[in-house]
Amino acid sequence: MSPHRGVFIVLEGPDKSGKSTQAALLVRYLKSHKIPFLHSREPGGTAFAEAIRKLLLDPRHQVTPLAELLLYEAARAQHTQETLLPALRRGKFVLCERYTLATMAYQGHARGLSLPLVRRLNQIATSGLKPDLTIVLDVLESEFNSRDKQRRHDRLELESPGFRRRVREGYRSLARRQPRVALLNGRRDVAQLHQEILQRVCRFLS
Ligand SMILES: Nc1ncnc2c1ncn2[C@@H]1O[C@H](COP(=O)(O)OP(=O)(O)O)[C@@H](O)[C@H]1O
Ligand SMILES: [Mg+2]
Repeated sequence: MSPHRGVFIVLEGPDKSGKSTQAALLVRYLKSHKIPFLHSREPGGTAFAEAIRKLLLDPRHQVTPLAELLLYEAARAQHTQETLLPALRRGKFVLCERYTLATMAYQGHARGLSLPLVRRLNQIATSGLKPDLTIVLDVLESEFNSRDKQRRHDRLELESPGFRRRVREGYRSLARRQPRVALLNGRRDVAQLHQEILQRVCRFLS
């Protein structure tokens, strides 16, 4: 039983996997169908959480894995209470780029922090809120350097290829184990992926 009336969909995947591209297409669809929605992202989604995002992604900082994890969860706690839950209570379609699965993949699998610890903090930060569906865009590590070459890389994007491979493998293994997670081939073309995402999302749009 979910305590709210809205739908909560999360887009996940490694850096440059196409999350923002697919989010923009889904937003266009929601607008054209006059479906009330909220498009948000993590870390971020409130003024305070966006300030934490800046801190987290600034390449000038050196951050211990635990400090990093706690900041992601602090931003998530604020975002969940201030933005996500109110929108869901109003019955909105909530689309978020990254949520709890990203922390499992990045801080758990890639940084090597304990998965039970990450799971527990996710639970606390979200007050138990869970996405109705998490869509993971799966791309090979090699896509990272061939896509969007102009992009100025943030602190996480400046990590090593080995780190990115662990993120990818983390997502793949999480997607296999968890319910309500769909793993899509992120190397298919943009329009085709959009159709696949719509197919999966449509059943939540009554
Ligand atoms: N399915 C796709 N195939 C090839 N390139 C893509 C695809 N989806 C997105 N891209 C390109 O990859 C880059 C990163 O996409 P973006 O949506 O910003 O990813 P993310 O938000 O996951 O970091 C952009 O240059 C985008 O145009
Ligand atoms: Mg993006």
